[in-house]
Amino acid sequence: MSNTRANKRFRSQEWFDNPNNPGMTALYLERYQNQTFTREELQSDRPVIGIANTGSDLAPCNKIHIFLMDRIKAGIRDAGGIPMEFPIHPIQETGKRPTAALDRNLAYLSLVEVLHGYPIDGVVLTTGCDKTTPAQLMGAATVDIPAIALNGGPMLDGWYKGRRAGSGMVVWEGRRLLAEGKIDYEEFIERACASAPSLGHCNTMGTASTMNAMAEALGMTLTGSSAIPAPFRERMEMAFATGKRIVGMVLEDLKPSDILTREAFENAIRTNTAIGGSTNAPPHLQAIARHAGVDLNVKDWQTIGFEEPLLVNMQPAGEYLGESFHRAGGVPAVMAELHKAGRLHAGVMTATGRTMGENLAGRESVDHDVIRPYDNPLRKNAGFIVLSGNLFDSALMKTSVISDDFRKRFLSRPGAEGIFEGRAVVFEGPEDYHDRINDQSLGIDEKTILFIRNVGCVGYPGAAEVVNMQPPDAVLRAGVNHLPTVGDGRQSGTSESPSILNASPESVVGGGLAYLQTGDRVRLDLNTATMEALVEPDEWARRKADWTPPEIENQTPWQEIYRRHVGQLAEGGCLELATAYQRVARNLPRD
Ligand code: FES
Ligand code: MG
Repeated sequence: MSNTRANKRFRSQEWFDNPNNPGMTALYLERYQNQTFTREELQSDRPVIGIANTGSDLAPCNKIHIFLMDRIKAGIRDAGGIPMEFPIHPIQETGKRPTAALDRNLAYLSLVEVLHGYPIDGVVLTTGCDKTTPAQLMGAATVDIPAIALNGGPMLDGWYKGRRAGSGMVVWEGRRLLAEGKIDYEEFIERACASAPSLGHCNTMGTASTMNAMAEALGMTLTGSSAIPAPFRERMEMAFATGKRIVGMVLEDLKPSDILTREAFENAIRTNTAIGGSTNAPPHLQAIARHAGVDLNVKDWQTIGFEEPLLVNMQPAGEYLGESFHRAGGVPAVMAELHKAGRLHAGVMTATGRTMGENLAGRESVDHDVIRPYDNPLRKNAGFIVLSGNLFDSALMKTSVISDDFRKRFLSRPGAEGIFEGRAVVFEGPEDYHDRINDQSLGIDEKTILFIRNVGCVGYPGAAEVVNMQPPDAVLRAGVNHLPTVGDGRQSGTSESPSILNASPESVVGGGLAYLQTGDRVRLDLNTATMEALVEPDEWARRKADWTPPEIENQTPWQEIYRRHVGQLAEGGCLELATAYQRVARNLPRD
């Protein structure tokens, strides 16, 4: 078929064409030709291409893939491959309780098992909703067969009463208006639903668009694929092109380990700053890196990403939604800006078979209101700051925390540049937050910092998106829309809340947040990138000695397995034992 293959057999031939083991070969052949394939094609020396289908009724953000399947298969056939579609454990961000984050590692595990244990030579990963992208990139990295990601694309832009209504944003905004008594329940629901006008995933730069941009920035997709809105013609064309390309990748033996290098992750981190990407990107990229055997550290997000500028004017950081982003040039236009400024490793290999620099040739922003030039950004130094101190070893801070308003309200004393202080109010979880946020005895005012704990990977379980806590109704009515929030959970990528999140280690495993009490003074020092509870060391040690971990109740077997083996967000929230398994396709399973 191609001379790049030399004499290498496809791994699928170990199943379908192995004269040394006629008994098993016959068993594999007779059943796979039962309905779908012929013996002739299964023994025709053509690669079998798996298509991991993440779309289903339960996973509406990815449902577009059900309709893209025909075009992906046509592309695979066109290039001489044999497509084999298979389902993948659904991960629906908005539907799965207690949180979809719990299922990322479950989908990862099952994908590893499928790719290793079935006759698959290469795979198309159909991505979309938040965790579907990292789960599959993690799986592909562990197995290390040729793999390419195909995004389903964002929904069309939502509109409500003449204004753009962005996914997630409408809910956070509506919740505030509801609390202030400006809208009622009916209007709240109506506004929220207006943000979802078509098939596709969230149309804001939330975690879904972020993670698909990350897949592209890492080099795991075709160029320009991630931002195309789901219903567009180009989305169908991209499905066909992706199907075609994976066959080429198999023939070239171009594997995730050739693409997912340290340099590729550095490109992704810089791109994340430029797009205004989600705070969920760090743990997900960390997890992909660990399964790929790449050395990445949560601190890299500050050292590599902090000084980059925000270029993309898209909600929640800006004003536009997915359609405008795509029309302005999408991810390649953003990366081309970074590249021109010398901020990319342009020599890295990508799924196209060409380098990132080659992919970006001729790409540029065609709308500078939506994708800004590198030297005229929306904001400079727009990346994350990684804090440490007695409350946690690491936590991410969105730079949007430091608004002028925040500077005024929290400055520790006149002239103390970059040093802020506030009074802590601590919640034990989202239920406790909802029960007590309007309790006046807590004394919450505009100088309060809200804390939430027990919501990390082990605590919740799965690290819940609950750090973006809304101030009490009375504070909202007084015109203060945001209080700084801190927690060992995550927050929605569509939230613009000023927060310090992903605190690791989490409180239920004895992280410093566990010893904080309502009423403690807390200091944030930007000069040293620290956040400290201002509690005497003796008193802190006493609280630590008196501390007993909270009771943990598992509701399903997976929750128990997950809690036993999951690591902390700073390390990607991986199943720790799984990170020891690398490039597992090198060894064939027994038959
Ligand atoms: Fe699925 Fe946002 S909820 S993409
Ligand atoms: Mg979310």
